[in-house]
Amino acid sequence: MSQPSVEAAQSLEGKLVLVTGGAKRIGRSIALRLAREKARVIVHYGESEAEARQTAAECGAVGLCRANLENVPEIVSLFEGIEKRFGRLDGLVNNAARFTRFDPMDVTEADWDFIHSVNLKAVFFCCQQGARLMRNTGAGRIVNLSSLGGIRPWADHAHYCASKAGVLMLTEALAKAFAPAITVNSVAPGVVRFAEVEERARDLVRVTPAARHGSGEEVAEAVVYFLKASNFITGQTIAVDGGLGLR
Ligand SMILES: NC(=O)c1ccc[n+]([C@@H]2O[C@H](COP(=O)([O-])OP(=O)(O)OC[C@H]3O[C@@H](n4cnc5c(N)ncnc54)[C@H](OP(=O)(O)O)[C@@H]3O)[C@@H](O)[C@H]2O)c1
Repeated sequence: MSQPSVEAAQSLEGKLVLVTGGAKRIGRSIALRLAREKARVIVHYGESEAEARQTAAECGAVGLCRANLENVPEIVSLFEGIEKRFGRLDGLVNNAARFTRFDPMDVTEADWDFIHSVNLKAVFFCCQQGARLMRNTGAGRIVNLSSLGGIRPWADHAHYCASKAGVLMLTEALAKAFAPAITVNSVAPGVVRFAEVEERARDLVRVTPAARHGSGEEVAEAVVYFLKASNFITGQTIAVDGGLGLR
């Protein structure tokens, strides 16, 4: 019987990786970490141009692009622009998202669409467009930022939780659809703090086994793991949550 071919884990040096929502917070941590891995980074942003320019400068980004991810034609143009300029894409990190807190009884159709248009629809179309481009070289790595809220139910975030649970299922379904050339995995952060934490986040930190919130760098570590992994690791999720999701 012939041996199946084994694809070795790869270095990110010289790999072209797009990070959506890369201007600030977790996206910025991922972009900076990728730069340390010597990847060629493309920073995407929506509204935060100044912060995106700053992040791009700090990580020596090869590209900086704006797109409103609510809008599928803008997503298509984003990837067409990358294809025109670079002709390839090795990695895609779907980090951009929205987060709101509402009593489910108060959620309107507009509130629902506000969350789902970016958190789920845009992730799907970025995966689709990214995979199309990755097929030019016959290989690629996609990492979707989901959330512990997609695994555990949070009452005041029912619509957000549903969008992130959708990201987890997209990750699994697209991992099968895009195999064997392209892997699709997910990182599910717990509480990651950047500014003052609201009371609810403080409550979550109190019941986090690690007894603290996480950092953008810790999320970036898991993202890099999947970007480097062989194609034998696909459709998987790593929770970066200090154990908060453990039952
Ligand atoms: N922070 C946490 O504790 C935590 C917990 C669980 C999961 N996560 C997930 O981890 C990822 C990063 O978290 P974060 O807290 O750093 O995210 P964030 O600050 O809430 O959002 C990241 C970026 O998404 C971009 N974005 C939102 N809507 C957009 C649109 N319509 N078009 C283009 N860009 C858009 C924004 O870019 P601009 O500012 O340029 O507009 C924003 O800076 C997200 O997927 C989040 O759901 C975070």
